[in-house]
Amino acid sequence: MPTTPAVPTRTAVRRRYLLCPPTYFAVTYSINPWMDPSHPVDTGAALRQWETLRRALRGLGHQVETITPQPGLPDMVFAANGAAVADGRVLVARFRHPERAPEAAAHRAWFRRAGYRPTTAALPSEGQGDFLPIGGRILAGSGPRTSTAAHREAELILGRPVVSLSLADPRYYHLDTALAVLSEDQVMYYPAAFTTESNRTLHALFPRAILATGQDAAVLGLNAVSDGRRVLLPEAAHGLAAQLEADGFVPVPLRLPELLKAGGGPKCCALELHPTS
Ligand code: ARG
Repeated sequence: MPTTPAVPTRTAVRRRYLLCPPTYFAVTYSINPWMDPSHPVDTGAALRQWETLRRALRGLGHQVETITPQPGLPDMVFAANGAAVADGRVLVARFRHPERAPEAAAHRAWFRRAGYRPTTAALPSEGQGDFLPIGGRILAGSGPRTSTAAHREAELILGRPVVSLSLADPRYYHLDTALAVLSEDQVMYYPAAFTTESNRTLHALFPRAILATGQDAAVLGLNAVSDGRRVLLPEAAHGLAAQLEADGFVPVPLRLPELLKAGGGPKCCALELHPTS
């Protein structure tokens, strides 16, 4: 008799996130293939959509901090790019593009005030956009934004072994557009966004990973925030939502279409502070 594999039990862990309201959100330049400055952006709608994310995180029992948005920094809403954090250690971003460079100082100041001792990256690297902690290590993306040399720097500063993964498709320019950490031992990712070698690495580490279709990846379905059980992800990623449920997770669909115009989704708006206290 064929047996149906049991659905794993997933446990939520209370988290703490840093968010930045999209008060000055706009698409005035293009630094990734999603951004088209000739398309209008509705900042009021962006604020309302972002508010649904903040409310959802709080509603799930998580602690949400905010960093003050600054005029002239339209991408600052993507707070997760401002720093890489693990075990209370902080590597503040060094943004690849001059348009975003001043965000780093704001993050450094926020972390200082919050009682951390942040180090600013010497090499270009973009925080949790490319550095995702999981199970005692850090998955690190290299590609348009972060270099492999910066992975070594992160390993030293954050004090955890880094697993380097190479991004292979310009639409998936940060690791968190192509892969989401779901729990301490489970991830979901889009294989075509990675090189063959990185696919081998991912398969060896996570043989039961959830694999996204091109359709779900193209709505930034992988730009998801998980607390170990509940997974906030773009509403249009229907396939992923079903796959998550089958694997014991609880999908929480969100609509953030304005932020998608800048190439962002739920995860890049939420910098996870690790640990929570
Ligand atoms: N417009 C921003 C940029 O290109 C979007 C960043 C979104 N963040 C992310 N981690 N995917 O930098």
